[in-house]
Amino acid sequence: MKIAQIGLIGLGVMGANLARNIASRSIDIAVYNRSRERTEAFLAEHGNAHLFAEAYDIAGFVASIERPRKIIVMVPAGKPIDDVITELIPHLSVGDCIIDCGNSHYRDTVRREAYIVGKGFRFMGCGVSGGEQWALHGPSIMPGGNAEDYVGVHTIFERIAARDFESRPCITYVGTWGSGHYVKMVHNGIEYAVMQIMAEAYDAFRKLYGLSAPQIAEIFEGYSQERLGSYLFDISIKVLNKADDLQPGEFLIDRILDSAGQKWTGKWAVIDALERDVAVPTIAEAVFARNVSSKKSIRTELAGKFVQLPERGLPELADFRVTLKNCLYASIVSAYAQGYDLIAQASASENWGVDLAEVTRIWEGGCIIRAEILGFLHTAFLSEPENIPHLFAIPEVVETMEDSLNDWHDAVSIMDKHGLAIPAIASALSYFEGMTDARHPANYLQGLRDCFGAHLYERTDREGSFHAEWDR
Ligand code: 6PG
Repeated sequence: MKIAQIGLIGLGVMGANLARNIASRSIDIAVYNRSRERTEAFLAEHGNAHLFAEAYDIAGFVASIERPRKIIVMVPAGKPIDDVITELIPHLSVGDCIIDCGNSHYRDTVRREAYIVGKGFRFMGCGVSGGEQWALHGPSIMPGGNAEDYVGVHTIFERIAARDFESRPCITYVGTWGSGHYVKMVHNGIEYAVMQIMAEAYDAFRKLYGLSAPQIAEIFEGYSQERLGSYLFDISIKVLNKADDLQPGEFLIDRILDSAGQKWTGKWAVIDALERDVAVPTIAEAVFARNVSSKKSIRTELAGKFVQLPERGLPELADFRVTLKNCLYASIVSAYAQGYDLIAQASASENWGVDLAEVTRIWEGGCIIRAEILGFLHTAFLSEPENIPHLFAIPEVVETMEDSLNDWHDAVSIMDKHGLAIPAIASALSYFEGMTDARHPANYLQGLRDCFGAHLYERTDREGSFHAEWDR
């Protein structure tokens, strides 16, 4: 019987492409899918000396992997993972390691690790980003769990990962317990926020200036060469230029229903941030914007009930193009700042030991939010991490935000004045203004709270908690 170096369960698009990626590096991999037909069809198309199934039942699959076994599980988050674990456990040997590479909730990962380790086996929760294309060509990999288990898997994972800006593998040991899946969850939260920010810019060009999809693509292409370079801008150009096969002469984007789907990782990030008292308003607004988008019929009904704003002057397109570029840049940095703050605070309170320099580095390649800005963020986190209490404290960020600030405000006010909904861009700006405001109006809130509920307040000039007799 042929013995594989690693096994993989779950031949959906991501699992299939990850298995092909592994085999393409001459690593022997055995695959298993609950449906034998799926495995057979997959192997008929892609099977080779490195990619095979010696058996189509779980016991035979496990037996065909060298010990201690490394078994990647790539099935939908939630119950399907628990079902696979239950199916696997009777066939494992002491020291075997299950690696969940799906988009699992990190709290499930913590629970599963405790359960599986208690049975004498090993478990890692591993974030994998890049969608189907990059699962095949090289994803960004975010493994969390026991550091010793990472040592056991990293030689294989390093070979299949994307490369960072200096050609090193986009993989690092993220930290203990569910930290790998946590970092992936926040990655997705940033992904939601950046995509919504870009959608609002697209909306401004089409509604305010009547630009066609390819005209917007051309502007975005220019942006990506002017410090906004990123995977999401690259694929925007493709998406905006795509002709519609069903309506000759039209562009597909104009025929796609304006109702966004989601698989909840953005929502999980927001819920988790709320539970930790960390502000991630742009990620939250991006989730809410998808929720609003999904109310298509009520939106359509309400749209006819309100009068349009009167005509107002617009800047020249050439000027607005520059204004919006700087607005986008600053908004996107603000979205990253919120995600980074969430990771930093979660890592500190959970004791995960997440290194933000390394997280930044492994996001430079393969993942959906890979972008040029990660280069200078990585350098900053490497050089003086102790002086970076927040992304807005990084000197290059201070400098570029200062340069962008005027345009950021102008763009928000132009879009607002013309009746566009810009929840992500506006919240990114408000977050920045709030976080850099030494004199917040929260003193007023404290006054009201103490007045109606004796909730106490602190003073700026002496220690302690105080209550005032507001009626005297
Ligand atoms: C990635 C993506 C991936 C998935 C998104 C889509 O990093 O490869 O984030 O995990 O495509 O989670 O999420 P929604 O369906 O919620 O937009």
